[in-house]
Amino acid sequence: MSDRGGIFAGDDPFAIARSWLAEAEASEVNDPNAIALATVDAGGLPNVRMVLLKEIEAESFVFYTNYGSAKAQELDHAGKAAFVMHWKSLRRQIRVRGTITREDGSQADEYYASRSLKSRLGAWASQQSQPLSSRGALMAEVARVTAKHGPNPERPPFWGGYRLTPVEIEFWADGAFRLHDRFRWSREEVAQEWVIQRLSP
Ligand SMILES: Cc1cc2nc3c(=O)[nH]c(=O)nc-3n(C[C@H](O)[C@H](O)[C@H](O)COP(=O)(O)O)c2cc1C
Repeated sequence: MSDRGGIFAGDDPFAIARSWLAEAEASEVNDPNAIALATVDAGGLPNVRMVLLKEIEAESFVFYTNYGSAKAQELDHAGKAAFVMHWKSLRRQIRVRGTITREDGSQADEYYASRSLKSRLGAWASQQSQPLSSRGALMAEVARVTAKHGPNPERPPFWGGYRLTPVEIEFWADGAFRLHDRFRWSREEVAQEWVIQRLSP
């Protein structure tokens, strides 16, 4: 007999993630969709940085970045990643681990087009993660790409999305006296059914 209910109710982990994020949107000071994205480099050294989660879909989580960045090289090389999102206002976290593919088709075009013009041009101007001689050099590049690409820039070929398809999703909620609630959805392969387990805090 399952004792899973309330904020953990339902068997679809993507629906729960969407519902928690919606709650966080109402209560967080800023960036409720910020995730700490963990990768591993070719030498096995872990790396982590914040990115913004842009879509929670039926089977995956999508974020956007520069395909020349350090993270992109690590994502492409390993084909796997993990992330955690933590909301201080709700005292909850979601941890996700899974496989990575690029989302560089029409969905990326649409998201790129939805961004402000300055952000779209900024994506053109920044060689993310590469050494930069000065802020002035970056602003000169912004001016150059603004003149070149005009008011309706195409999505840069070196900028787009990544889709993380999970094999593990854990929902955690703060409990009194550190007796937290944890539920993990896991599967060995994406095609398999989820196994749902309560975990010790
Ligand atoms: C709250 C927050 C949100 C961020 N969102 C993104 C994002 O969506 N995409 C991105 O490429 N970088 C984002 N960044 C910047 C990254 O943390 C990081 O500095 C950058 O992507 C370079 O990382 P890398 O050298 O590991 O590739 C964000 C930073 C913060 C603090």
